Amino acid sequence: MKAILLAGGKGTRLRPLTIHTPKPIVPIFGRPFLDYQIDLLKQVPEIDEVILSLNYQPRRIEELYGDGSEHGLKIRYVVEPSPLGTAGAVRYAGESLHESVVVFNGDVLTQVDLAAVIRLHRERRALATIILTPVENPTAYGLVETEPDGRVRRFLEKPSPDEITCDTINAGIYVLEPHTFDRIPKDTAWSIERSFFPSLIERGEPFVAHVYRGYWIDIGTPDKYLQVHRDVLDGRFLAPNTPAAGRGWISPDARLDPDARIDSPSFIDDGAVIKSGTHIAPYSVIGRHCHIEERAVVDGAILWPNCRIGPEASVTRAILGRHCHVGRHATVRGGVVLGDKSAVTDYSRV
Ligand code: GDD
Ligand code: MG
Repeated sequence: MKAILLAGGKGTRLRPLTIHTPKPIVPIFGRPFLDYQIDLLKQVPEIDEVILSLNYQPRRIEELYGDGSEHGLKIRYVVEPSPLGTAGAVRYAGESLHESVVVFNGDVLTQVDLAAVIRLHRERRALATIILTPVENPTAYGLVETEPDGRVRRFLEKPSPDEITCDTINAGIYVLEPHTFDRIPKDTAWSIERSFFPSLIERGEPFVAHVYRGYWIDIGTPDKYLQVHRDVLDGRFLAPNTPAAGRGWISPDARLDPDARIDSPSFIDDGAVIKSGTHIAPYSVIGRHCHIEERAVVDGAILWPNCRIGPEASVTRAILGRHCHVGRHATVRGGVVLGDKSAVTDYSRV
């Protein structure tokens, strides 16, 4: 069985972080995001190959994953000539497939039991099975209404507040039958959410939902990106192969001054240097080779590798791309997102 990972979006809501790093490989505790999805797919022994459907900066991703052998799963790449939308991308990537295929949005993180969903798809002889998850505010997602027997009654992408009729949304994970792909127009941008799914409902075809109530997040906005780090540190998402899960982690390769105060849970990666008098407050994530100078404060912020925080500067609940420099006494706070190589001059307030 194959899985198609839709990883071709531009990641506009995560800009400027995604200018040099496509969204599927933004680091989460020093590991590219796709690693976490590959970990989940590997839990289903039946899945023997992942097709990465790419469009934006495909080279970066190909270089990182190669043929997948280092990750224990065969990986193939399909690069669209131009963005084909979520359905166009599935058709383009699934051209040669003949058996049920798992399709995954490249920005969702979850612990769903995929094997159980595949079983349900087969038992119900469905043409499509979709995973739903309850959220407080469905407006940023695809709202999905179901019948008591689990069939999908209505799919409404990005509903306005007055259109909300339930709390279950599309979790961005499906099992599909490739023979249905020939109804997706070729070489045209086409949406799985706005066109393909509604057409299954209109035709009364077997389109089934599995409601999942465990951990689920779409990491596609700065708030959610901060949130997923908190959730891992709190143990709400037990990421396999991530030492930070549930308690935080300090690399044995980091250099910590005995006069630094480091609160738990935080994450300090290899080669980081934490100088005297600094305060690393809870939920801070300090990337590889970052330097935190004397008496600086990092509080609930995420620093990608090679950042330097100057003496007595403070960085609170912000996200800093690679190689950022915050000057002495500068203050950066309140959801600020700095792109790679940003420089905040001494004494500035951002
Ligand atoms: N290959 C390819 N080509 N991939 C694409 C394209 C494209 O043209 N457009 C989007 N993608 C990929 C993105 O990279 C992302 O992984 C996934 O498809 C979904 O796109 P997003 O832009 O993240 O959509 P969204 O978050 O607004 O909404 C989608 O996800 C929600 C769950 O997180 C929809 O599927 C909603 O219905 C759903 O609730
Ligand atoms: Mg998304």
